[in-house]
Amino acid sequence: MENNIHPIFDRLLQRSDKEKFLNQKSFVIWMTGLSGSGKSTIAQALENKLFSQGIFTQVLDGDNTRTGICNNLGFTLEDRAENIRRIAEVSRLFKDSGVLCINSFVSPTVDIRKSAKEIIGKDDFLEIYINAPIELCEARDVKGLYKKARAGEIKGFTGIDSPFEAPKDPFLEIHTGELSIEEAVEKIYKNIIPLIGLK
Ligand code: ADX
Repeated sequence: MENNIHPIFDRLLQRSDKEKFLNQKSFVIWMTGLSGSGKSTIAQALENKLFSQGIFTQVLDGDNTRTGICNNLGFTLEDRAENIRRIAEVSRLFKDSGVLCINSFVSPTVDIRKSAKEIIGKDDFLEIYINAPIELCEARDVKGLYKKARAGEIKGFTGIDSPFEAPKDPFLEIHTGELSIEEAVEKIYKNIIPLIGLK
């Protein structure tokens, strides 16, 4: 019988084809933590290290998503959930293209991260808790946002007047108050490199 519907799997190359082409396994590294905890710095340094070893990667963080695909969203819990939903969908596409995706998002609640994990697939979602005490993030105040939040100029700031729920059972926990960026990257690198190699 003739119809115009062709199952997508007949047309598209598979993730395994892309992984073979790139000679790597693909998944999503999901870094969560307070603003100023060091997530994006670690994500970028990790990407550089992996890329120099021939691993094909993509970093997603607020800088390249909130300015584009998520530029109509704010920081209510509802908007954050939608932010993370879009990011998770984009990450899934990268993963399906064989790319190792390194994400850095506050993603403040257990539920928000659970929904990302469901979209990406539990076996392809590696949660890394970038754990720094709020006092340290606030003292660093790289972007000057904590000062504004304390002054009431920003409402609903994570850790000040909006919740952050720590992951209960992350793949890894990195204490950025105790490790240097290099040490943090090394710890993550050592733990993920065995997962990237094709069997
Ligand atoms: S998430 O909660 O939706 O995952 P996301 O990681 O995209 O947040 O963006 C967080 C970044 O936005 C912070 O690092 C900070 O620079 C900035 N930001 C601006 N307003 C807020 C806010 N109210 N709460 C947290 N971060 C904010």
